[in-house]
Amino acid sequence: MSTMTQSITDEAVTTRLAMRMEDSLQAFAVRAACFIGELDMPYSEEFDGHDFSATHVIAYVGDEPVGTVRVRWFQSFAMPERLAVIQRFRGHNIGQMLLERCRKLAEGRGSNMLYVQALPGDVKYWEKQGWRRLVSEEASSGAKRIVAMVKAVDPSKPLPDVEAPEAIVLGHESQLDATGLPRGTASN
Ligand SMILES: CC(C)(COP(=O)(O)OP(=O)(O)OC[C@H]1O[C@@H](n2cnc3c(N)ncnc32)[C@H](O)[C@@H]1OP(=O)(O)O)[C@@H](O)C(=O)NCCC(=O)NCCS
Repeated sequence: MSTMTQSITDEAVTTRLAMRMEDSLQAFAVRAACFIGELDMPYSEEFDGHDFSATHVIAYVGDEPVGTVRVRWFQSFAMPERLAVIQRFRGHNIGQMLLERCRKLAEGRGSNMLYVQALPGDVKYWEKQGWRRLVSEEASSGAKRIVAMVKAVDPSKPLPDVEAPEAIVLGHESQLDATGLPRGTASN
C-alpha cells in the first residue's frame, strides 16, 4: 500500500513499505548514497544485522526511490532510524512524509511512543518535526554525542510518562558480531 501527499514537478510523491527484496535494495541504495557517499559514514556502521528485522519505508518521486527510513520495534516504543533523502530531492519535506508514515505504522501496531537517537546537529530538525528531548539539555550529563528524542504517536495525547528515561536509552545497545548475534553472546 502506498500513500501520496504531494507532487514534485508533476510526479507523485508516495511512500511504501518494503515488501520485497527489491524494495529493500532501493532503501539500501538511498542510504548508501546519503550516509556513505555524502556523509562519509563507514559501510560497517551504516549497515547492520538490524536491517533484517526492521521495517523499511521508502519514498518515491514517480518510480524513483528518493528517501528512506527504517523502523525497529521495541516493547515501549517504535524507533525510526537511518532517515535519508537523496540530496537533490530535499526541500520538499519528504523526510516529514517518511516520519508520518512511521507514526501511522506505529499507531497501527499499538505503539504509543516514537523514539530516535539524534546527532546534536540534527536536534533542531527533529524539534521542527514535533519531537522533544527525552532528557533536558541541562540534565544531560557530559558531552554525549547522541540525543534521545521522543514523540507521542497520538499527537492529541500527552507523551506517556517515562519514569526512568535512561532505561529506554539504547546508547549502549550491543553491537552485533559477524554471525548476527550480540557481541559477547555464547554461540554454538
Ligand atoms: C534530514 C533529511 C532527511 C531531511 O530531508 P527533507 O525531508 O528533504 O527535508 P527538507 O529539505 O524538506 O527540510 C525540511 C526542513 O528541515 C530543515 N532541516 C533539514 N535538515 C536539518 C538539520 N540537520 N537541522 C536543522 N534543520 C534541518 C530544512 O532547513 C527545512 O526547513 P524549512 O521547512 O524551514 O525550510 C535530509 O536532510 C537528509 O537526508 N540528510 C542526510 C541524512 C541525515 O543526516 N539523516 C539524519 C536524520 S536527521
